[in-house]
Amino acid sequence: MCGIVGYLGSRPAAPILLEGLHRLEYRGYDSAGIALPHRGRLRVTKAAVRVAELRALVGEDQPAVVGIGHTRWATHGEPNDANAHPHTDATGRVAVVHNGIIENAGQLRARLAATGVEFVSDTDTEALAHLIAARLAEEQGSLEDAVRSTLREVEGAYGIVVLDARNPGELVVARNGSPIVLGIGDGEMFIASDLAALVRHTQRVVYLDDGELATLRADDYRTSTLQARRTDKTPTEVELTEADYGLDGFADYMRKEIGDQPEAMRRALLGRLDSRFSTAHLGGLRLDPRELRSIRRVKFLGCGSAYYAGQIGANLVEELARLPADAEPASEFRYRDPVVDPETLYVAVSQSGETADTLAAVQELTRKGGRVIGAVNVVGSAIARECGSGVFLHAGPEVSVASTKAVTNMSTCFAMLALLLGRVRDLSVADGRRIVAALDALPRRVEEVFETEEVVADAARRFAGARHMFFVGRVRGWPVAREGAQKLKEISYVHAEAYQAGELKHGPIALIDSGMPSVVIVPDDELLVKNIGTMEQIKARGGPVIAVTNATLPEGLADAELRVPRTEPELDPILFGIPLQLLAYHLATELGRDIDKPRNLAKSVTVE
Ligand code: F6R
Repeated sequence: MCGIVGYLGSRPAAPILLEGLHRLEYRGYDSAGIALPHRGRLRVTKAAVRVAELRALVGEDQPAVVGIGHTRWATHGEPNDANAHPHTDATGRVAVVHNGIIENAGQLRARLAATGVEFVSDTDTEALAHLIAARLAEEQGSLEDAVRSTLREVEGAYGIVVLDARNPGELVVARNGSPIVLGIGDGEMFIASDLAALVRHTQRVVYLDDGELATLRADDYRTSTLQARRTDKTPTEVELTEADYGLDGFADYMRKEIGDQPEAMRRALLGRLDSRFSTAHLGGLRLDPRELRSIRRVKFLGCGSAYYAGQIGANLVEELARLPADAEPASEFRYRDPVVDPETLYVAVSQSGETADTLAAVQELTRKGGRVIGAVNVVGSAIARECGSGVFLHAGPEVSVASTKAVTNMSTCFAMLALLLGRVRDLSVADGRRIVAALDALPRRVEEVFETEEVVADAARRFAGARHMFFVGRVRGWPVAREGAQKLKEISYVHAEAYQAGELKHGPIALIDSGMPSVVIVPDDELLVKNIGTMEQIKARGGPVIAVTNATLPEGLADAELRVPRTEPELDPILFGIPLQLLAYHLATELGRDIDKPRNLAKSVTVE
């Protein structure tokens, strides 16, 4: 959420910053801007535009070899030119880009206003620029000292980069709750809130920790705490390269990442399935069989699609391990003073590993002595680090705002977790073997779903005129329906509601008519007859039915059938999600939506 870049070296900074912002645009696209030093003053170009338009505003003739940039997802203040970052002090000396939220911004702004400062934006960030500039003027000290003493007064979350136009040989960065990565080049330094902007320049990186600050020169950096204790960080090598963030010829990241799923799933399964003992190995859990057996309950915590994947995980744990399990939105958990049970295994689910609500739930659990593991995609992210143990999703970088491959890998990993928990309890060897074989074959089954894409696209075209849609599922199909509705809402803006099939007749069925299609999840399992009954109820009220199924349905019952290959019934929810991703994608494309930049959204919600 929001993207930050910085550059310091010997090449013109503007093109490097703009390219970096382009790479980070998925994290916020309300507005964008850059600040460059010019003869002791700042040249700031910022506006409520996308990065492509900013490029035109910045122009070619920018000799500065240092600069900072930002792409914004609005929190404080509406998305307009004034609220776009970078923010500066009144003298035009200090520029700041910031991710996160300063919680005591109101007090800081009031205090500054009392000294005559006139604010030109509604943001919390502008206060930082004024405070740092005031410290620089008062104390005649270094930029690092000014930033450090300012941040000691700040409450809240931030990742910031600060530029002083009178001292353009240095940039100061700091982190508390919002990621900052330094890219170490050869005689040049890069800064970004996300590896996506760095890997085309360098694989040598330094991740800042919370409460840490760094001062960068072109050929040198030093890190320290807010209390001025040196931390002497050494760079680590990342394996990701520019190719991992490419579009591979696809029109958008969402479709590219839907297509990535077989490979992503193979990576998640690699080395984790054990056919000999019909179980799974999840070494990152750091739990021996005795500890695994001591678990009495499992609770999945996540937000949005990660929460729905957690619901699939809870069903899998109940089915395969016969342990009570449930999922809860992490955003609710943190505020309801939860009873933390030492015999429960809590699983924090997050693609980004940065989601503020999920991170806060983990911190609450840790404070109260809960046993919490992460199911996280981004290695080194805040949630992964806070949990210390867990299951990495290995989906690869996910750029599309609408999550697809990470969500599929979440449920795939939960199937392995459930298998492992089952096999140290009373799941039989035969059932274990059945699940291992089905998991092993699952990537191929996903490829088979793609073979039906034209049918899905055709259904999307037929129903693209609908203003509302129901997504209906029962038990295993219920989280699938929720995720299907979520995908459709996010990228097409078609109103979609998910219901448990049995709940439909208790009220929502009143809305069914010929203009309200229902997507019904119909696995060929013990509930098939019930689900056929649901479809009949919908049809009897004139409602069109799109069945997502691997069963043989009565002739003419469904208006469209999205076919799913067979796997073991417990794993159906993993596969059934894929045609729903394609349905949302094709429907949104049909409506001409901006697939990778859905309105009001951004990747990684690092604020409340
Ligand atoms: C849906 C979507 C969001 C995220 C949610 C959690 O497509 O992307 O609902 O799933 O914001 O994000 P992570 O998994 O990064 O914690």
